Amino acid sequence: MCGQAVKEKQETQDKQDIQERARTLTFEILRYNPQVKGETPKMKTYQVKEAPGMTIFIALNEIREYQDPSLQFDFVCRAGICGSCGMVINGAPGLACRTLTANYPDGVIKLLPLPGFELIGDLSVNTGKVFRAMSERVESWIHDKHADNVDLDKLEETMDPDTADEIYELERCVECGVCLAACATKRMRDDFLGAAGFMRLARYAVDPRDKRSDEEFYDIIGDDDGVFGCMTLLGCEDYCPKDLPHQTRIAYLRRKMAFAKRS
Ligand code: SF4
Ligand code: F3S
Ligand code: FES
Repeated sequence: MCGQAVKEKQETQDKQDIQERARTLTFEILRYNPQVKGETPKMKTYQVKEAPGMTIFIALNEIREYQDPSLQFDFVCRAGICGSCGMVINGAPGLACRTLTANYPDGVIKLLPLPGFELIGDLSVNTGKVFRAMSERVESWIHDKHADNVDLDKLEETMDPDTADEIYELERCVECGVCLAACATKRMRDDFLGAAGFMRLARYAVDPRDKRSDEEFYDIIGDDDGVFGCMTLLGCEDYCPKDLPHQTRIAYLRRKMAFAKRS
């Protein structure tokens, strides 16, 4: 037998060994379609053979493809970029495409939709509606007081690299809603802006092109529905899949707003 044939035989044998050793995962998934009159929420169990490097997202795809095409869940990018696949995984909110099944040693994985969002069906929730409202509330655009007198010949303004880095860090939010689902304050009080809104506002507050004053920011977040309602529970910091600096940025906004109130 030539060297190539031996190598291929070994590879086939290795694959078989991996398959034989693979665990059988048990998924308990909430099934509920609010569009169907009279339907009640129930947990349904599925079993999936684990593969190396398997994510919850891959397992859900297998279930939908081979066992139950009616299962609803969202995804676009499969790479932690679009923010669509947020769900509660064994009690903790996270992204299905960034969570390995290997993280669950007993092989039992319970999936629920993210709380605090309108349920579309099963694991699919309407995060878009919440984030649109948040963007409108914090007026998520650069407020340039001279926008009416735009000089098209003017050279683009340069920015200090450290400031650009700060803005970039906050812009990494993928609007997944995990920080809102992880926040008990937000769960108790729907009008509470929540960590994603604070990160968005902080992004504009550090941007020198945004000419809003601290008092104007105060009008948006200077009350109990804003940054003074945050009880520093830090679920946002613990679960944000993009590791945004919630703790430091919320403290920064709180300090900034305390001074704005005094002046
Ligand atoms: Fe998701 Fe983090 Fe953005 Fe919150 S701040 S929406 S957890 S990426
Ligand atoms: Fe909620 Fe984060 Fe504050 S979890 S209470 S927004 S620190
Ligand atoms: Fe895009 Fe998970 S599928 S973040």
